[in-house]
Amino acid sequence: MPYNLLKGKRGLIFGALNDKSIAWKVAERAREEGAELVLTNTPVSIRMGNIDELAQRCGAVVIPADATSVEDLENLVTKGMEHLGGKFDFVLHSIGMSPNVRKGRTYDDLDYDYYHKTVDISAISFHKVIQTCRKFDAIEEWGSVVALTYIAAQRTLYGYNDMADAKAMLESIARSFGYIYGREKNIRINTVSQSPTPTTAGSGVMGLENLMDFAERMSPLGNATAAECADYIITLFSDLTRKVTMQNLYHDGGYSSMGMSMQAMHIYNEGLEYRDVKNDKSRRRNK
Ligand SMILES: NC(=O)c1ccc[n+]([C@@H]2O[C@H](COP(=O)([O-])OP(=O)(O)OC[C@H]3O[C@@H](n4cnc5c(N)ncnc54)[C@H](O)[C@@H]3O)[C@@H](O)[C@H]2O)c1
Repeated sequence: MPYNLLKGKRGLIFGALNDKSIAWKVAERAREEGAELVLTNTPVSIRMGNIDELAQRCGAVVIPADATSVEDLENLVTKGMEHLGGKFDFVLHSIGMSPNVRKGRTYDDLDYDYYHKTVDISAISFHKVIQTCRKFDAIEEWGSVVALTYIAAQRTLYGYNDMADAKAMLESIARSFGYIYGREKNIRINTVSQSPTPTTAGSGVMGLENLMDFAERMSPLGNATAAECADYIITLFSDLTRKVTMQNLYHDGGYSSMGMSMQAMHIYNEGLEYRDVKNDKSRRRNK
């Protein structure tokens, strides 16, 4: 249900690839709440995905940009403001990619060129986006910047690989630039740490389905969907959260505060019983 929370606001949204993308859901909700939008993605993702369909639905323009290229970002920010007729009130960074994950390189066998790419795409691009916006004074006073992250920045989750390092850096950039931009222009910068979600980037994470099942059992409120994530991000873009900045905000159904849940323990116990029965049978066979 729309509340007109973003009426009259202008937004820049990175990372809508297809209708599974978190950024896609955010764009739809932002539009519903009255925002005018500029959408962006890399030229390849624009070709491979269907961002044009989203743009049509949202009455938005699509300006291609590789978020690792400052030149592209400068073009995006200036053209975006021109198109909207003013500065942005909010910016969403919803970008992540690890060539090491894609190529199946494990954390103890990283390719260092890939590692640089992971960090450049998934973390440094956030710095580049904010620095470019600041250079062109592209964000309104009391504007809001949000990037998406994952709990693997704080806790080790088997298989998340070098993306964990990138997310830790991304969250740090939110704090470091949050201080500067807050001091100067009252602009807030936060990261939202989302539950595992079945998207294109999400499916690159090793064993996503089982990880989602585990997180679902561990979270008292269950996993948060992409649509629910969009709802939460809308509040962060709205004027209702003007004094929230430099935070890593968990949107994960309570997962981040859990150690062990009844449901997860139940499955673990079943696994142990299954193992004991199997061992017992093989012991009897070997007698
Ligand atoms: N899916 C999950 O389980 C999950 C959980 C927590 C956080 N996140 C984060 O959410 C964000 C969005 O991912 P998603 O799950 O919606 O998947 P997605 O695949 O739909 O989105 C990732 C986007 O990053 C874009 N991208 C990649 N390289 C880029 C570059 N150089 N320049 C500009 N854009 C580039 C892709 O084109 C794509 O649109 C990512 O930061 C991801 O790490 C995802």
